[in-house]
Amino acid sequence: MTPPRPCIGLFDSGLGGLTVLKALASVVPDADYIYFGDTARLPYGSKSAETVTHYALDAARHLEQLGAEMLVVACNTATALSLEAITNGLRIPVVGVIEPGAQAAAQASRNKKVVVIGTEATVASHAYQRALKKLGVDSHEKACPLFVPLVEEGWSEHSVTDQVARIYLDEAFAGDFRDADVLVLGCTHYPLIKSVLQRWEPRVTIVDSAESTARAVAAKLGTRVTKDGPSGMRFMATDSVEKFRRLGEKFLGRQISAVQHVDLKE
Ligand code: DGL
Repeated sequence: MTPPRPCIGLFDSGLGGLTVLKALASVVPDADYIYFGDTARLPYGSKSAETVTHYALDAARHLEQLGAEMLVVACNTATALSLEAITNGLRIPVVGVIEPGAQAAAQASRNKKVVVIGTEATVASHAYQRALKKLGVDSHEKACPLFVPLVEEGWSEHSVTDQVARIYLDEAFAGDFRDADVLVLGCTHYPLIKSVLQRWEPRVTIVDSAESTARAVAAKLGTRVTKDGPSGMRFMATDSVEKFRRLGEKFLGRQISAVQHVDLKE
């Protein structure tokens, strides 16, 4: 008898984590996925560590209660600020996005100089800098707080986003890091503007942690392969389900037929 499909829970403050789900579903197609977007409390990236940890634990426990047997923190901010608290607060294995992203960046960089862009909270935590330092890589971290609202607005290809990107990247690739050869997308929303970023910095390798995180999850699951039909995906959001469905399809690259509204009581 074939074993049941693994059930993997993922959460993010909004739609960004769908980029991780997209990568994961192509590496581990024979799993069931539950995705939780905490859209009512977005952004996490400008909030304190206490608040983000409180929100992240709510989301993580909800997914555990729904039967997830592994949790992917598909949010750099929550990983940077709350991974330890989430891991300690749950009984199921937890995977964050920062370690896999740092490893991919270290492998991709020839001169061991990397620029990391992320939310204010991720940058202030220096979680990437610490992870990269351990791998022998120097990094310059730059907060880009305008990117998340632009992406959530669906303005990935927009002249405003283009100009904002140019200003941020000029500031990021400066001084000793002018010749950095890797740009880490330290926020799960940023893969949506990858082509804009690459246009302004054509010579750098852009690393997004979604793919390396997907490989880390596959390694944790081991060789558990089932033949139980195609994987299922459930979606939940704490704010408008219609907006989540409409914009979420862009992030996920496939149709989202139903989104359930969830009200997490304080
Ligand atoms: N997607 C989140 C991240 O990866 C950021 C969005 C937010 O600020 O809530 O950090």
